[in-house]
Amino acid sequence: MKTYRIAAIPGDGIGTEVVDAGVEVLKALAQRAGSFDFQFDHFDWGGEYYQKHGRMMPEDGRDQIRNHHAILFGSAGHPDIPDHITLWGLRLAICQPFDQYANVRPTRVLPGITSPLRHVSGPELDWVIVRENSEGEYSGVGGRVHQGHAIEAATDVSIMTRAGVTRIMRFAFQLAQGRPRKLLTVVTKSNAQRYAMVMWDEVAAEVAKEFPDVTWDKAIVDAMTMRMTLKPWSIDTVVATNLHADILSDLAAALAGSLGIAPTANLNPEGLFPSMFEPIHGSAFDIMGKGIANPIGTFWSAVMMLEHLGEKPAADRLMRAIERVTANPDLHTPDLGGKASTRQVTDAVIGAIAADNT
Ligand code: IPM
Ligand code: MG
Repeated sequence: MKTYRIAAIPGDGIGTEVVDAGVEVLKALAQRAGSFDFQFDHFDWGGEYYQKHGRMMPEDGRDQIRNHHAILFGSAGHPDIPDHITLWGLRLAICQPFDQYANVRPTRVLPGITSPLRHVSGPELDWVIVRENSEGEYSGVGGRVHQGHAIEAATDVSIMTRAGVTRIMRFAFQLAQGRPRKLLTVVTKSNAQRYAMVMWDEVAAEVAKEFPDVTWDKAIVDAMTMRMTLKPWSIDTVVATNLHADILSDLAAALAGSLGIAPTANLNPEGLFPSMFEPIHGSAFDIMGKGIANPIGTFWSAVMMLEHLGEKPAADRLMRAIERVTANPDLHTPDLGGKASTRQVTDAVIGAIAADNT
């Protein structure tokens, strides 16, 4: 029997609550499948670790998880620690060195959930946003001089490389090719940013030639926000820079009904390093410890993890269980306007896994 070693990094805030729920659900799924198993190793890295040790994860942290099959991540963020420290000290400290350059963010309106776009005609939205996850505006290049003086200067330099753009374009075209509509929108801002974004467009056009069966178009990022809200049916697969996709994916999550549902995969497609799966909602300190965090974003991320591990039947079974549970408004957490607890939703998903005879 195959045993997958999973590094569970709950992080901060509701991250601990949803990752615990995710681990329970994955264990139930393995039991139901009978053909594979999980070994979960838990790492207490994050804000509290920082307060004790002065860093978000140990110096050899990455070595401790380098040989795991995948990483299940909660969130990083702490009310008493600046956000750029928690982000760069943990999440980006894993994503970037592990070259998880493809960040994949699916958006669908799950059964029982109401999209704010319900009055817009056309089919329900079904998108996948591919976020460049290794460079661009998150390159970490920049500096600050003369702090506090009138002449203070600061830069955040966005670096784009031909290699980096080519590989994300290829990944996105391939993903679009595998979806029924074979439709890709390349988001850009090459009207205002005349170097890197122009190269981005050029590389997109070059890579497009390798995928003659994929229909593609370009959208300027500001116009893309309008298109997402007014013509959602015109979109299928989307590729965008690190920052543009960061913003668009929050919009996408809101349009799908709640940030509590949206999943993410940070992929190293070549499998040289473990890939990392996480809900996109963040730490949500306002509801921490109340037992009402929506675990669906983590469960859906677990679906993506199972697909990545090659356990497609288990992934499909978990997705069916999720959809059966979201379809019941009595099992909606407060972010969806309901009263259910994390515990109730988790139990219901575990119950639906057990009951699934497909
Ligand atoms: C995301 C988040 C992060 C990001 C935050 C927490 C820094 O918004 O995963 O989309 O900007 O990448
Ligand atoms: Mg974001």
